[in-house]
Amino acid sequence: KMDKTIDSLMDLMTLTEKLGQLNLPSSGDITTGQAQSSNVAQKIREGKIGGLFNIKSVEKIKNVQKIAVEDSRLGIPMIFGMDVVHGYETSFPIPLGLSTSWDMDLIEETAKMAAREATADGINWTFSPMVDLSRDARWGRVSEGAGEDPFYNSQVAKAMVRGYQQDDLSRNNTLMACVKHFALYGAAEAGRDYNTVDMSKNRMYNVYLPPYKAAVEAGVGSVMASFNEINGVPATGNKWLLTDVLREQWGFDGFVVTDYTGINEMVDHGIGDLQTVSARALNAGIDMDMVGEGFISTLEKSLEEGKVSMETINTAVRRVLEAKYQLGLFEDPYRYLDEERAAAEVFTKENRDFARQVASQSMVLLKNENNLLPLQKEGTIAVVGPLASNRTNMAGTWSVAAPQDKSVSVLEGIKEEVGNRAKIVYAKGSNVSYDLELEKRGTTFGKDIPRDGRSDEELRKEAIDIAAKADVIIAAIGESAEMSGESSSRTDISIPQAQKDLLQALLKTGKPVVLVLFNGRPLVMNEEDETVPAILDVWFGGTETGSAIADVLFGEVNPSAKLTMSFPRSVGQIPIFYNHKNTGRPLKNDKGEFEKFRSNYLDERNEPLYPFGYGLSYTTFEYSDLTLSSDKLSPEDTLEVSVTVKNSGNYDGKEVVQLYVRDLVGSITRPVKQLKCFQKVFIEKGESKKVIFSITAEDLKFYNNELEHVYEPGEFEVFVGTDSRNTLKSEFELIN
Ligand code: IFM
Repeated sequence: KMDKTIDSLMDLMTLTEKLGQLNLPSSGDITTGQAQSSNVAQKIREGKIGGLFNIKSVEKIKNVQKIAVEDSRLGIPMIFGMDVVHGYETSFPIPLGLSTSWDMDLIEETAKMAAREATADGINWTFSPMVDLSRDARWGRVSEGAGEDPFYNSQVAKAMVRGYQQDDLSRNNTLMACVKHFALYGAAEAGRDYNTVDMSKNRMYNVYLPPYKAAVEAGVGSVMASFNEINGVPATGNKWLLTDVLREQWGFDGFVVTDYTGINEMVDHGIGDLQTVSARALNAGIDMDMVGEGFISTLEKSLEEGKVSMETINTAVRRVLEAKYQLGLFEDPYRYLDEERAAAEVFTKENRDFARQVASQSMVLLKNENNLLPLQKEGTIAVVGPLASNRTNMAGTWSVAAPQDKSVSVLEGIKEEVGNRAKIVYAKGSNVSYDLELEKRGTTFGKDIPRDGRSDEELRKEAIDIAAKADVIIAAIGESAEMSGESSSRTDISIPQAQKDLLQALLKTGKPVVLVLFNGRPLVMNEEDETVPAILDVWFGGTETGSAIADVLFGEVNPSAKLTMSFPRSVGQIPIFYNHKNTGRPLKNDKGEFEKFRSNYLDERNEPLYPFGYGLSYTTFEYSDLTLSSDKLSPEDTLEVSVTVKNSGNYDGKEVVQLYVRDLVGSITRPVKQLKCFQKVFIEKGESKKVIFSITAEDLKFYNNELEHVYEPGEFEVFVGTDSRNTLKSEFELIN
């Protein structure tokens, strides 16, 4: 039926109407790029627009859909996109934070709920999930991904696609997903946004491409091309990437959209004028042109000149129409436009309760000396810091639909939780950033929390006076929301100096200090790790940030999140990741001692401050009895790896049990450790659980130098533990 409907429609379409289907302007409601779209309503009437994005509310969407359906010649409905990245109005933790939950069901459920809310409000297409693996915390967009590991990123990619699409796009509460940014955007040189990528195929296939492939295998409906070039060819005009890999090798059959003005930017990349790059994009495999209007303004000429074919245009049009068909828009263009649903299903109490639970599962306990946490609800508690009483920063980057002023601040969350059992006092303590030089450059660095009229010294003094009289100090400091995300790369990824000074002054009061750390990326925080007794990394937790922080600080929730990206000790270590290669001159000691003529630094040890997979709990877990069902694994068999995990502390808790392998000898060099399985288990205090993993030869495959996906017989080490550093070890042989 779909083919017939689309065939007969395409028979009626003029070239302009066809190119119109490939044109995706922005509505201007929400700004996510520099260029603006103009005369949108008129263009819709003329059949020159296939979809719109960044438009919010049923009423507005209905109005423009009406123009398309009633006033354009063929009445083809439009598709409506938005960056529904970590929730819609009800916002969940930023994706990097969410990924630290290591809970795929939870992650899937967040996407499902986001889909319910967004579709109730007229949206049927989301530009998510972002699965750009990254090992460079300078890059501001690490906040939008799931960290440094290909296997872990792939699990998250699948969970997100399942959550949005639910294997059934025809339902009116599922969203078409768009995996982005294809590809390798997270490997931008020097962590500078939009920068060049130059990478071996070996690394691409083994490390950076798997998460996109996983999303395709999960049935993602669309793909967004990335801004960066790859080995000299911009992704948006890269036929090898968009056709050979995506369609031929992976079998993707949905449609591909550019990023915001991605086609036009190829002019600046230096591969031709707008007509040339538009033709190149279409021929490479782009179906839809976001904002730049290169397709609609040049493809007719390119067709006349034989630079593109009618067949290629038709293929792209067909793919866009198929997506609309799958979404049920031909059956009913208004099926996502129901005011009653919008009023009943968006930003509900139930959704917010779930968001609170999710946020508390995404907070990583980095340090807890002498079990300072959880806190008692008693005495006087000082809540200090520029992020303590702020609501608008809690949802973090890319929360474009969230009503920021309705988020729960740290102070509000704590007051609510403590009630009248303790006295809460508050002081701002400092601005987010004190650096006037940066402000002169016109950056947004920390500006989303307005500078206080008073100087940092005055603010600090006030805070110290207040905090010195308290029993415990909670310091809510770190990055503000705009210091990570798109176009927010940093070269210095430490806590801004004014806040570091505040923290050290608070410590000097002699009162116990809990650092509640806000961040969209791993930070360099050696000083804080050395001096502050308790550190809880809360990322940006979404709408319910403040309540969830209170849940964790006062022990309603025992933290169980684990890092998905290493925290470097120094920017100079970047890129830093646990699954690196061994080199021919690895270090012989693990004490951080310098070794001449071996692979290390004169001035810093190799290891990160906090490794991949790291995160503490209020309880303790002891690992023992690592047992393998055999010391040999053949391709038809399954190896069972079991371990006993004992909750040896004083609280019930969840533990993420992680299994890594090392392939000791390969036809190409292999990483020193690779995550292969994980399980999040709940263990009551005093109890033990046997955790069993299964490994097959399939799990041990990698791409060799011929890019064949193979396993190679030989010796393997297997590691099981609480993070990528602390593990028990055994070995087995993969036999033929
Ligand atoms: O989806 C985003 C993308 O991640 C960055 N550029 C703008 C797009 C649409 O808002």
